[in-house]
Amino acid sequence: MPRLLLSSKSVKSVSVDALVLGLVPAPAGAKSTAPVLLGGEDLPRATRTALAESAVALGATGDAGQVHLVPGVSGAATRLVALVGVGPDADLETLRRAAGSAVRALAGSRRVALALPLPDAATVAAVAEGAALGAYAFTRYRAAGREPVAEVTLLVDKPRDKAVRAAVDRAGVVADAVHTARDLINTAPADLAPADLADAAVRAAEGTGLTVRVLDEDALAAGGYGGILGVGQGSSRPPRLVVLEHAPARAKGHLAFVGKGITFDSGGLSIKPAAGMETMKSDMSGAAAVLAAVRAVAELKLPIKVTGWLAVAENMPSGTAIRPSDVLTMFGGTTVEVLNTDAEGRLVLGDALVAASQEQPDAIVDVATLTGAQVVALGNRVSGVMGNDDTFRAAVLAAAERAGESFWPMPLPDELRATLDSPVADLANIGDRAGGMLVAAVFLREFVGDSAAGTPIPWAHLDIAGPAFATGEPWGYTHRGGTGVAVRTLVALAEDHARA
Ligand code: BES
Ligand code: MN
Ligand code: ZN
Repeated sequence: MPRLLLSSKSVKSVSVDALVLGLVPAPAGAKSTAPVLLGGEDLPRATRTALAESAVALGATGDAGQVHLVPGVSGAATRLVALVGVGPDADLETLRRAAGSAVRALAGSRRVALALPLPDAATVAAVAEGAALGAYAFTRYRAAGREPVAEVTLLVDKPRDKAVRAAVDRAGVVADAVHTARDLINTAPADLAPADLADAAVRAAEGTGLTVRVLDEDALAAGGYGGILGVGQGSSRPPRLVVLEHAPARAKGHLAFVGKGITFDSGGLSIKPAAGMETMKSDMSGAAAVLAAVRAVAELKLPIKVTGWLAVAENMPSGTAIRPSDVLTMFGGTTVEVLNTDAEGRLVLGDALVAASQEQPDAIVDVATLTGAQVVALGNRVSGVMGNDDTFRAAVLAAAERAGESFWPMPLPDELRATLDSPVADLANIGDRAGGMLVAAVFLREFVGDSAAGTPIPWAHLDIAGPAFATGEPWGYTHRGGTGVAVRTLVALAEDHARA
């Protein structure tokens, strides 16, 4: 995580290695088609003119997403300037991404100052967060190459303003949480067995006031967690259920977050083809997001109770693995005929949803890399949101919107339930292939319990199969590998719930 600093120094004098300025497209109808500099108003006119000319020479248009590096600048605090396009009428997410792109492009520079216009605390928050998210590299197995930016200074008018400082502090906590999730996702599965992920949760909780409970295979067997045990039984490395709890005094409500934590998904005996297995170390991205979000909630001292449930197992084929047609008794007693061992996420989540429901939280959100069908339907950048309560689903979407994460609502058609009928058990773990993302969610709904009033606990299901792991070109603040998607939405949701 880079250090995040605030300064009222001038772009002419701040002591850094590189400077970030914005570019917007030429206004419609303007004489010149050259993009217009944004920020750095205190630079000498000659410097601004030279930068504008460089922008044109480099082909910069000011469109969002572009970054052009300009070396050899004179008159500014640094020789190296990054010009980042923000497009016309940038919203907060556009600025977050622009800051991320700029800081990503400036890897190799140690200290960077951002001179984008920062008129209010919300803009400071977005730019600080984007910059911090852009300054990331996963270096466990090799040197970083160009080191990520280590220090980001935001140039503002009032660096001591309370709201501005709070915005930067929050951005630091949230970005640090996202980095934690990314690191866990990027770790090779040999180095992240279920017990290792549980240990990571214990370590993440240290010094935050969180309590952690880890159920090992014996505790899972004693408790009757047939879903988690069944999925984990093919691996030499036994499964875990991890419960993280943030329980402040005078909590304004209680949210439960449930994460799918398959540390590697080979498919089990219903084994995946080679290509489908390549990214399956990321199948614990939901659990990583929940772990990171609960830690952020604790660090932010949000006045709300939040319980995080990590359902952790390794899905492997072996002589002890679960077989297609085996029947599992899930936590709570529901029986499931396992027709496809690759539909394992819903099995571990079923146990955890029942367990989370027993505490009667106000609402439950589960996060899971659950289906290839999500990728087919929404692609690699938009996650699906399903649920049993339209109001709560809308609250999740609103939180995602504020956090700058792309989620899209999807239905839970009742007629899909019958496709999950089994001739031998209460449910089968696969149903119709068509609408596979929705079928999986309909399966999960069976495991959401009732509130004291006898109505189902409001529940939302986030299918992040595509967005959890980036294999293409980096963009904005998103690097290759684990993205940490859903962390920011969960934190924003907890904030909203604490306010409501
Ligand atoms: N972890 C996968 C889903 C997945 C696929 C995540 C691609 C990320 C990228 C999940 O456990 C799985 O294998 N789902 C099956 C379910 C099917 C057997 C009903 C799928 O989507 O093919
Ligand atoms: Mn699977
Ligand atoms: Zn899986």
